[in-house]
Amino acid sequence: MPLVTLKQILDEAAKGGYGVGAFNVNNMEQIQGIFKAAQELESPLIIQASFNAVKYAGLEFLKYLMKAATETYPDVPVALHLDHGPDFDRCKTCIELGFTSVMIDGSLDYSSKEKKKPARSFEDNVAVTKQVVDYSHQFGVSVEGELGTLGGIEDEASAQKVMLTDPEQANAFVEQTGVDALAVAIGTSHGAYKFKEKPIIDIERVKTIHEKIPNTPLVMHGSSSVPMELTEKLNTFIVVSKGKDDEGGPYIDFLGKKYYIDQDYSIARDMVYDLFFKNRLKKTMGVPIESIQMGIRNGVRKINVDTDGRLMVTTAILEVLYSQPEKFDPRDYLEPSREAIYNMVKGKILAFGSAGRSKDYKPKSLKRMKKVYEK
Ligand code: G3H
Ligand code: 13P
Ligand code: ZN
Repeated sequence: MPLVTLKQILDEAAKGGYGVGAFNVNNMEQIQGIFKAAQELESPLIIQASFNAVKYAGLEFLKYLMKAATETYPDVPVALHLDHGPDFDRCKTCIELGFTSVMIDGSLDYSSKEKKKPARSFEDNVAVTKQVVDYSHQFGVSVEGELGTLGGIEDEASAQKVMLTDPEQANAFVEQTGVDALAVAIGTSHGAYKFKEKPIIDIERVKTIHEKIPNTPLVMHGSSSVPMELTEKLNTFIVVSKGKDDEGGPYIDFLGKKYYIDQDYSIARDMVYDLFFKNRLKKTMGVPIESIQMGIRNGVRKINVDTDGRLMVTTAILEVLYSQPEKFDPRDYLEPSREAIYNMVKGKILAFGSAGRSKDYKPKSLKRMKKVYEK
C-alpha cells in the first residue's frame, strides 16, 4: 500500500474508537520490527521521525527505507510523519522528501539557544502552525499542532509551570490554524524520567478538550510506559561487583567475568564503576497503559512512543553482549533488537485497539486529500 496521510489514519481511528501507535524510528531494524508487528496484527501504523532522526539516518536513506518497507509490507496502511517539526523550513524539507504528515511544534521556540526551549505565545504558535497548514494542505499533507507544554504534574504549582492545554484555547487554536490533529499537554512528558511515583494524567482535561473539538483527533506525546521490569533488566547488565573466592582472593566481577586483583582493588573497582555505572537508569515510572486507554476512550487517536523502543533496543543488545562477550558480528545483536521492537509494538497495538483495522482501508492519495482541503 502506498503511504497514506495521518488524517486518514486518525479519521478511521475516530470512526472505530481506537488509538494508533506512532513509533519513532532512526534505523532499518526499528522500521522492520515495527512493520512486521503491524502486518501480523493487521494494524494501521504511524512511523515518525524527529528531524534529528531524519538527519541521523540521512534524508534519502529514510525515504528509501520507508519505500522498501511499504513494498515489503503492502497491506499495512502507514503514514510517514515528522515528529516535533521545529520550524516551517524543516516541515517543508520533509514534505519535499515525501512525508505524508508533519507536526509543527509551535508550542516551543526552537530558535532559542536555551537547552530548555521557552514556550511560544499562543499568537506565535497560531502564526507558525497556520503557515505550515496552508503550505502542507496544498499537497494533501496532514498537520499536527501542539498546544501547551509537556511535563509531569507533581502538584498544583508544577501543573501551572508546564502549562497544560487550556480547552478554550484548544478550540480557538484549531479554528484559527486548521490543524488535522492536536497534541495536548495533560501531564505526560518525554524520555525515561517521567514520574518518580504514581503518575497523574489529567484525563478530565482530555475529556473536556474532546467535547470542545470533537472532530479533531487528539495526540498523546510522551506516552512510553517505561516498564519497571525493563529498566531493572537493563540495569542488571552493567554490573560491577566485588567478591572473594574460596581462597579469599579478591576479584572484581565485571560483565559476568571475574578479574582477580592481588592488592587493594578498591581503586580499580571505583574506576570501572565510574566508567560503566554512571549512566545506569534511576528508578522511574512511565505512563500506565490504562491511562492511555482512558485517553483513547476520550478522543486520543495518536499515541507517541519513542523511549520504550530505545529501552527495548538497548536491553536486547546488552543482553547479547553481556551473555556472549565473544560476539562481534552486528547481526548477532541487531537481530535481537529488531525482535525486541517487534514484540513491544505488538503489545502496544493490542493495547491501543488498532489490531485488525488495516482491512478497513482504501488508501486515499495525497492528490485526493488535496481536493478534500480545497473544498
Ligand atoms: O519527542 C522527541 C522524540 O523522542 C525524538 O527525539 O530528537 O532525540 O530524535 P530525538
Ligand atoms: P516518549 O519519550 O514517552 O516515548 O515520547 C515520545 C514522543 O512523544 C515523541 O514525540
Ligand atoms: Zn513528543
